[in-house]
Amino acid sequence: MASITRPSGRTFGDDFLWGSATASYQIEGAVAEGGRLPSIWDTFSHTPGKILNDDTGDVAVDHFHRVGEDVRIMQDLGLQAYRFSIAWPRVQPTGSGEFNQAGLDFYSDLVDRLIAAGIKPVATLYHWDLPQALEDEGGWANRETALLFADYARKLAEVLGDRVSLWTTLNEPWCSAFLGYGSGVHAPGVTDDVKALRAVHHLNLAHGLAARAIREVLGEETPVSVTLNLHVVRAATDSPEDLEAKRQIDTIANEVFLRPMLEGEYPKEVFGDTAKITDWSFVEDGDLELIKVPLTVLGVNYYATNKVRRGTPLTGHGEPGPDGHRLSEKTPWTGADDVEFVAQPGPYTAMEWNIEPQGLVDLLLELNERYPAQPLAITENGAAFYDTVSEDGRVHDADRLAYIHDHVDAVGEAIERGADVRGYFVWSLLDNFEWAYGFDRRFGVVRVDYDTLERTVKDSGLWFAELIRTRAVPA
Ligand code: NOJ
Repeated sequence: MASITRPSGRTFGDDFLWGSATASYQIEGAVAEGGRLPSIWDTFSHTPGKILNDDTGDVAVDHFHRVGEDVRIMQDLGLQAYRFSIAWPRVQPTGSGEFNQAGLDFYSDLVDRLIAAGIKPVATLYHWDLPQALEDEGGWANRETALLFADYARKLAEVLGDRVSLWTTLNEPWCSAFLGYGSGVHAPGVTDDVKALRAVHHLNLAHGLAARAIREVLGEETPVSVTLNLHVVRAATDSPEDLEAKRQIDTIANEVFLRPMLEGEYPKEVFGDTAKITDWSFVEDGDLELIKVPLTVLGVNYYATNKVRRGTPLTGHGEPGPDGHRLSEKTPWTGADDVEFVAQPGPYTAMEWNIEPQGLVDLLLELNERYPAQPLAITENGAAFYDTVSEDGRVHDADRLAYIHDHVDAVGEAIERGADVRGYFVWSLLDNFEWAYGFDRRFGVVRVDYDTLERTVKDSGLWFAELIRTRAVPA
């Protein structure tokens, strides 16, 4: 049970951007329509036992067929921006060669509808649905995938052009690399430490190449970003052992993305931490120069915090990190297989993630201190709770409302204390397919009835609309 713990009433400037976010595989459905071919998530979700209740994104919330209704809902909420993702296998079914006009048309039409509704389109090129044909060639463990990603990005830049307000290359590459190829709890479900680290590098390279391709087509000033799930990691005590445990997790979870993308280098500690696994010879001369590109904004996804200590070697248990997966479940790639994730005090969301808005203030201030000239945006923040529909037909989701309230206030505090934060996107517009948890965990500020696919704005959605309208945190 969450309740409001921070003050209401904080105000935001007129140019602060309010929006909501979704991702293609989580909402679209229509997986075999309009020329789309399977992604790694189609294959994975159809593998028995991988997803809670064996749910799949086959129908999801049928956004593909309900795009008009969904844009109307966004307009009713007064959203100023909408962060969606493009399904690579819808626009280029095998991930190389021929593009699929029907797929390109779908996103072109979405962008037109958004603009007509006065909503800025924020397009993410990769939110985890890699074309299966590319996985068959090695996926993100294969360098070629990064090069092909740049071709795909170039094409989308040509097609959508300057109608897109902000391009995002990748969403949470940490998840793609470590959940996809390390612990295997996400598609493609590979458990191979070397591949996970190769994936880290190829995702970084894909980001740099795609950003460059977009700017080659649309000009150097084109707004480009990347979205990272930066883990707030704290040491359980100030002992040198616990501080070193924190350092190792920070390095593998955050620094391997932040440092190359923003500073053009890998943190040198990572080479020692992972020496038993790889010598990183997959990093080629010139790669780091390509990876570092000026970011119009750095996208930050934030949900919860983590606490670590040097502990007994892991047996597969630990507290869930952001994204609900036990970072500690299998961490040999960190070289830190004796790092223990310590239980966090509650309250918790339905993901069993702890609720700690202060973590967001700390993260934003730390980023601001390290990269003072780098504008930031919260590209995801929100909470899963087990909602019920009341007799009045409405969803009185006081928990979610309180979570969003407190985190929005936290963003306001960070801004007041000097962080340059330009916008906030609530996750998610709609209840949707929550990856390994299927439809069990609802994050939407709009409820979706999974039998009828009917949409109902929840109290949190109405509250968010009021926030946008008044630019002040309502009680
Ligand atoms: C981050 C991911 O980007 C999104 O797809 C997911 O649904 C949310 N976190 C909640 O887990």
